[in-house]
This record gives sequence, structure tokens and C-alpha cells, in this order.
Amino acid sequence: MNITNVTVLGAGVLGAQIALVTAVRGFNVVSYDINDDALEAAKKRFDTFGKQMAAELDDVTADTVAEGRERLRQSSDLEDAVKDADLVIEAVPEKLEIKKDTWARVGKAAPDNAVFATNTSTLLPSSFAEATGDPSRFLALHFANHIWVNNTAEIMPHDGTDPALVDVLVEFAEAIKMVPVKLKKEQPGYIVNTLLVPFLQAGQYLLANDVAEPADIDRDWRNSTGSPAGPFEIMDVVGLRTVLSVNESEDSQEEWKKDFAVIVKQMIEDGRIGVESGEGFFRYDDEGNRIDE
Ligand SMILES: NC(=O)c1ccc[n+]([C@@H]2O[C@H](COP(=O)([O-])OP(=O)(O)OC[C@H]3O[C@@H](n4cnc5c(N)ncnc54)[C@H](O)[C@@H]3O)[C@@H](O)[C@H]2O)c1
Repeated sequence: MNITNVTVLGAGVLGAQIALVTAVRGFNVVSYDINDDALEAAKKRFDTFGKQMAAELDDVTADTVAEGRERLRQSSDLEDAVKDADLVIEAVPEKLEIKKDTWARVGKAAPDNAVFATNTSTLLPSSFAEATGDPSRFLALHFANHIWVNNTAEIMPHDGTDPALVDVLVEFAEAIKMVPVKLKKEQPGYIVNTLLVPFLQAGQYLLANDVAEPADIDRDWRNSTGSPAGPFEIMDVVGLRTVLSVNESEDSQEEWKKDFAVIVKQMIEDGRIGVESGEGFFRYDDEGNRIDE
């Protein structure tokens, strides 16, 4: 299947990154958001992300980004935005009702053979596949924040997805310089978060139970396994607000989880929210390198 025209729904943190990278890599892109203010905010994100891409990637310059921006059109009219799409990638807010409403409109307005992909992090595609009107064309294409550097694309079908579409998205992901990873079936948290969340929680458990200090926990992990970062450095990169919201969304609230939440809330109140503020569990310079060891 030939993908030329890509529509990205939602131009927030992730949607703007997906739209820009896809355009810079040569596709025609329509970036949809709900109103003029949102389109204006998206334009600023394209400026910022474009500069970052040119600075951080060897094969992208300010000129390449400018050429990409010419292939990128913005729209606040959903039906117009998807009418010529070969692939629709949805990155609207993580609310089931918004996802359902959006896909119901897309299903009616997009071409009959367009592929439908959601970038949802925490919802399962099967929970809103029916809303698209054609679940067989629908699957997940999940990016990680800062997509041109953390360039994994997890491709996850639900039970009713046409299996051929997995390879269509593998090919697309490679074309926009992502590293595609295929899942055979639905898994909450995809692969990376299925591995990462329990790992981070093991570190949280050790701290909340006052077994060891974060620096020692990380040092042990790094030195014993050869891994470049331990759980606390990873939490600083993820950002402590996100760490807290994952903690608060957990169904089971064992004592240590509550104790850990108290520690993190205090850190957030003190402005220690992770690498982006220069301090979390550890301290960092402007480039995000640790300066405390
Ligand atoms: N932020 C991340 O690190 C990250 C990583 C991977 C996946 N995701 C997923 O990407 C999706 C978007 O997340 P985000 O962080 O970019 O969110 P965001 O809040 O930054 O952006 C959402 C965008 O959608 C727009 N929007 C609001 N209501 C809308 C509607 N009814 N219809 C269409 N657009 C609407 C908003 O104006 C905004 O620009 C979510 O499903 C999230 O789980 C996020």
C-alpha cells in the first residue's frame, strides 16, 4: 500500500512532533487541531521542534526543516483534514470520549482505504476501534516523546485488525526514520512500559521502605548490570509529575506507594521535577548531564 498523504489529529506535544517529523521525511502532512488558538500554539511547537531536530540530527538541517514545513498544512476542519489521507494518526487528548468522537467523524470523512492509527499511551485500541466504523483498518502506532531521538515506534494491532496493516506501518515507520517494534497482540503499556513501570516501582519500593538512597540504588543497578541508568535517573528523565500521575492512577495502593507519593509530592512542591528543572533525585546541567557524581 502506498502512503503519501498523512493526517495527524491533535497538534499538542506528540501530535506536533509526529506531524513535523513526517513532513521533514518527505510526506504530505495535514496537522489538525480544534481551533485557531490551537493552530497558533502548534506553529510555535513546529518552530521549537524544528530547531531541536536540526541541532540534534546529523541528516537534518534548518533547510531540510523549512522544506518539510512546506509539505505541512494546518487545518481546524476535521473533515477537510482527512479527506485525502492515506494514513490518519490520532494524537488527541487521552480521554476515551474524545477519542471515540474524533474517530467517529474520521471514519465518515476519510477515504475508504485509509489506515487509521492511534498514538494512545494507556487506552487499548479495542476500546474505541468500533467508533472508527471499520475496526479492521485500525491499530496503534505509539511514539515516545522527543520522537526524532527516542525513535521507537510500537505497532500494536487489536484482535480485529487486518494483519497486513502491521507491515504497512512498519514500512511507514522506517520511512520516517523510526525503529519499528511489532507487537502480536494488545498489551496495556505496550512493550516498553510493561518492562519499565515494574522496574521503576521496584526502585520506588526500596526508597519508600528506606532500604537505600537513590544514588546507591542506581549505582548498584548500573554497576551490576552494565545498564547506563538506574531507576531514579530514568524517573528524572520521565519527569516527576508523570511519575506521580502514574502512581496515583494505580488501582492497588499499598503503603509503600502512598509513602513514595508523599516524597515525590514534596519534591514537586520544591520545584525539583526532574532533568527539565535541573534537579530531581539528582542534579543536572543545561544539557541534562548529571553534575552530582
Ligand atoms: N506526551 C507524551 O509523552 C506522549 C507519548 C506517547 C503517546 N502520547 C499520547 O499522545 C496523545 C496526545 O498526547 P499529548 O501529550 O500530545 O497531548 P497534548 O495535550 O499535548 O495535545 C493534545 C492536543 O489535542 C488537541 N485537542 C483537544 N481536544 C481535542 C479534540 N476534541 N479533538 C482533537 N484535538 C483535540 C489539543 O488542542 C492539543 O493540541 C495521547 O493519546 C497520549 O497518550 C503522549
